[in-house]
Amino acid sequence: MKSGSSLLDAELHKTDPRVKLIAAKLKKENFKPDALIEVLHTAQNVYGHLPLNVLAYISKALSLPPSRVYSTVTFYHFFSLKSKGEHTCLVCTGTACYVKGAQVILNEIESKIGLRPGQVSADNQLGIQVARCIGACGLAPAVVLDDEVQGKVTLGEIINKIIDKMAAK
Ligand code: FES
Repeated sequence: MKSGSSLLDAELHKTDPRVKLIAAKLKKENFKPDALIEVLHTAQNVYGHLPLNVLAYISKALSLPPSRVYSTVTFYHFFSLKSKGEHTCLVCTGTACYVKGAQVILNEIESKIGLRPGQVSADNQLGIQVARCIGACGLAPAVVLDDEVQGKVTLGEIINKIIDKMAAK
């Protein structure tokens, strides 16, 4: 059996808290190849979609050929390889983030940007997503802008960053 920590040293960024959630799920499932679908669900919940480097990580962890993991993802319509929108803003709505104002952030995004979770801007520049916990509870409220985890975000700061992303194209 592989250890979670050696896998974490692989391709994925060590400081990305989301990887730790996937590693915890892999460990809980005892790295059984049969747990592929469940692990993919966990990954999609925290990333909003399934990036290729995350699939490679899962494939290695479960000792499955990458082609098997990829074909599973493309077979089921509820998995997505691509994020919706050129840029993504994923707001964590897990307990710690909720207590620290995640819903207020979502309300502000809706009021200032006009988008709700699951929606994409008309020009496809921005997609809004939510996750139940991204593993960065100590940084609540946490938001992931594209692939960057932003901790202890304030309303004005996050709205400005989103607008900057949309304007950057
Ligand atoms: S609840 Fe938001 S990071 Fe855990």
